[in-house]
Amino acid sequence: MTAFPTTRLRRLRRTPALRGLVRETRLSAEQFVSPLFVRHGKGVREPIASLPGVHRLSPDEALAETQRLATLGVAAVILFGIPERKDETGSEAWDDAAAVQETARILKREAPSVAVMTDVCLDEYTSHGHCGVLRGDEVDNDATLPLLAKAALSHARAGADVVAPSDMMDGRVAAIRGALDGAGFQETAILSYAAKTASAFYGPFREAAGSAPKFGDRRAYQMDPANRREAMREIALDLDEGADAVMVKPALAYLDVIREARQRFDAPIAAYNVSGEYAMVKAAAANGWIDERRVVLEILTGIVRAGADFVLTYHAADAARWIEEG
Ligand code: PBG
Repeated sequence: MTAFPTTRLRRLRRTPALRGLVRETRLSAEQFVSPLFVRHGKGVREPIASLPGVHRLSPDEALAETQRLATLGVAAVILFGIPERKDETGSEAWDDAAAVQETARILKREAPSVAVMTDVCLDEYTSHGHCGVLRGDEVDNDATLPLLAKAALSHARAGADVVAPSDMMDGRVAAIRGALDGAGFQETAILSYAAKTASAFYGPFREAAGSAPKFGDRRAYQMDPANRREAMREIALDLDEGADAVMVKPALAYLDVIREARQRFDAPIAAYNVSGEYAMVKAAAANGWIDERRVVLEILTGIVRAGADFVLTYHAADAARWIEEG
């Protein structure tokens, strides 16, 4: 190994062309999935205070947004539902007429080239805000599985390309795979939120979706943020149960988890750049404390460099535009 003065790493940093040649990580709009919050109605575009630039959309507006994303090169969306009613079991989650299902049908008809993913969970739909059915004060794992499977099946019937369970029940990937295959949906893929922690970074999402738990918290089913080895077990189990791709969530405080997952598993890995991560950037940018464009591209580069194949991010449209502009 030769050292200074023979070796000078600055030589290949001198011009944009040289830097371009040796850049190790590249971002592309194709790597982004844009989350969309959908609700019933027509022409509805409700701003969400804690997520500046993000709206609750009626199905027609979700289509317009999806078409705008597609022109920017973002070819995937993930749908989250704002229900009309909430009950103990979250039954609107598997209602074929609910907003997610309605939007999925419209998107597959009018924008067929865009990949439609759906979040499969009950928390937006339950009156208590937990991700499954309750037995006393606890979420009953096994009683929740058939309900998640029904919701996933309803999304598949509506045309979803990918269903993404985010509930963290044990065994839900196998339950969903079984239900899909049993009904002829062998081609519907499963992206499991495999390593999802009980994180404080979901605050703005819960405001957007009205899904904060009415009592307690989610620590009895979502992972402890402190555990990396357990995250690897979660991923291995979900892949064993038939997940086509696995997710690490949130992203920024978990880059080591993404990195290790990349080294251990050959399956596609997604990372969710969650609502709290987005809100912090938007708040600092609004105050003039950071350069939003540079910070966002640096964050997304970091997530991809750590090993994510694709990123769910509320910055998708902006980032795609900035990448295009160069
Ligand atoms: C559960 C779900 C949540 C998020 C995605 N799916 C909320 C939670 O677990 O409390 C959070 C996403 C974000 O913060 O951007 N349906």
